[in-house]
Amino acid sequence: MALLEAAARLAPPGMEIVPWRGLNELPHFNPDLDREGDAPPPAVASLRAEVSAAAGLIVSSPEYAHGVPGALKNALDWLVSYPDVAGKPVLVWNASAAGGHHAQASLVEILKTMSTRVLVESSLLAPFLPKKLAPGAELADDAARAVRSSLAALGLAAARLPSQGS
Ligand SMILES: Cc1cc2nc3c(=O)[nH]c(=O)nc-3n(C[C@H](O)[C@H](O)[C@H](O)COP(=O)(O)O)c2cc1C
Repeated sequence: MALLEAAARLAPPGMEIVPWRGLNELPHFNPDLDREGDAPPPAVASLRAEVSAAAGLIVSSPEYAHGVPGALKNALDWLVSYPDVAGKPVLVWNASAAGGHHAQASLVEILKTMSTRVLVESSLLAPFLPKKLAPGAELADDAARAVRSSLAALGLAAARLPSQGS
């Protein structure tokens, strides 16, 4: 979240980064709670509305025990059958000082399976951020450069999408 907040302050003109803070409110994914025609749980509706409103997505995640944190995988599972996620350009950022490449590889596979357009070349992996970023802290020059370039790629990919509703 500290990384997303720092990145939000570096976003190019015309791009707004809106961190989604509802992860702790999501129920465990259960297809029985997600039947067609039923209203989804409120936190799921909030997540889906943010995804629909976004021209592109940034998945910013730590790595836990060489894997994707369970809470994040849970959120992604709620989006698997959500049509608006398909085709969205996605950046995957992992700021784990210890590497994070297992989680990153797994996230790329999951997000591709969800039919998103993962911008693998423009995603970010340690050591772009060599030490933990404190909440509210600004990125050092090298990390800021890497983030700006990643965001520029997302902006470009999002601009190539047909405008929403058309
Ligand atoms: C339970 C746990 C397991 C972790 N396992 C890994 C790991 O396998 N690989 C890795 O690169 N970082 C691992 N980390 C480090 C985190 O990915 C992350 O860099 C660290 O928790 C700092 O981020 P935070 O401030 O969001 O907690 C682990 C952290 C925790 C708490």
